[in-house]
Amino acid sequence: MKALVLQKGAKDNDKFKHSIVLSEVPIPTLNPDNDDVLIKLQAAAFNHRDVWIRKGLYPGLQFDSVLGSDGVGIVQATSRAEFSYLAGQQVVINPGFGWEKDPKGPENKYAILGLLPLPGTFAEYIVIPRAEIFPVPEHLSIAEAAALPLAGLTAFRATFTKANVQPGDNVLITGIGGGVALAALNFVSSIGANAYVTSSDESKIKKAIEKLGAKGGINYKEDEWPKKLKALLPNDRPFLDSVIDGAGGEIVSQTMKVLRPGGIISCYGMTSVPSIVYPMFAVLQNIEFRGSTMGSREEFGRMLNFVKERKIKPVIGGIWQGLENAPEIFEIMSKGKQFGKLVIENKLSKL
Ligand SMILES: NC(=O)c1ccc[n+]([C@@H]2O[C@H](COP(=O)([O-])OP(=O)(O)OC[C@H]3O[C@@H](n4cnc5c(N)ncnc54)[C@H](OP(=O)(O)O)[C@@H]3O)[C@@H](O)[C@H]2O)c1
Repeated sequence: MKALVLQKGAKDNDKFKHSIVLSEVPIPTLNPDNDDVLIKLQAAAFNHRDVWIRKGLYPGLQFDSVLGSDGVGIVQATSRAEFSYLAGQQVVINPGFGWEKDPKGPENKYAILGLLPLPGTFAEYIVIPRAEIFPVPEHLSIAEAAALPLAGLTAFRATFTKANVQPGDNVLITGIGGGVALAALNFVSSIGANAYVTSSDESKIKKAIEKLGAKGGINYKEDEWPKKLKALLPNDRPFLDSVIDGAGGEIVSQTMKVLRPGGIISCYGMTSVPSIVYPMFAVLQNIEFRGSTMGSREEFGRMLNFVKERKIKPVIGGIWQGLENAPEIFEIMSKGKQFGKLVIENKLSKL
């Protein structure tokens, strides 16, 4: 089968530290001792993690890994005969293993698809533990289902488990072009909370307001954007209840004067600067800074039910046919040009 494999070192003119090579690798096989399923992947989606990996900035890099954490496909076979009824079902894969249900964090060693020893979804087939597959919500297309897992789970935990967003809250979501940020915007708006967004791109702010129900937005490249954001808030609730942040750096100092006392900053990533400044003023305001990661299998199941009940559709920034399009997608993502998830559909041959 074809798969995108991480290889050490860059090719000439490559801005990434490590390359991806479209390779011919064996179709994975089922081990009769495990409780696994073989899935023929219909589509896979990209995450910023894939960019960090190629830049050499992700911990635990393993060369020869098949990359990719998001995938949707059709079950072909099961290692245990009693689950053979699953064959033919379309499933979406929980991308993180080792975390069952503890809301505080993983019970076991946690690992994410797309780095060895785990397989990746930028491939035609994958073998996955049966416990990590879930039915695809019926209202989703193949590409939308592929776009959901990692970003949806991260946004769900950051928004509800960590920021405890409630209807009527004012919530700031930073860097709205990102996959996680857009999922958070969908989730926040769907429960009747008021979402405000930041972006480096005015057209993304416009789309977030006009198409996705954001109440307002501000360009984070502008001087004094927090003051301008404060001016957008309604008179009867002139503060933020929480911030869902993927940027890091100065986010506490930037939002602490707009947040209510005891407001929560739920931070799932640090794309701008990989550390946080936490000033004394934030202490005096009782502001809570909470780190948030992907989430447990239990949260993944709840996220899928939430999406299904509210008929939420992930925002898609582009769909390509075939794994050979990966270099173009890495280019777009590394420049932050996308608005929504970037998806590859597989042109599949028969097994
Ligand atoms: N901890 C976890 O488990 C976990 C899970 C998922 C993601 N993450 C991390 O979260 C971050 C976002 O992931 P993603 O997959 O959603 O990324 P993505 O789709 O590549 O989006 C990145 C977005 O970050 C925004 N951005 C860049 N610099 C910014 C800044 N200085 N201030 C505010 N926003 C900025 C840009 O938004 P605009 O285009 O609107 O300017 C860009 O579109 C990454 O760092 C990723 O590694 C962590």
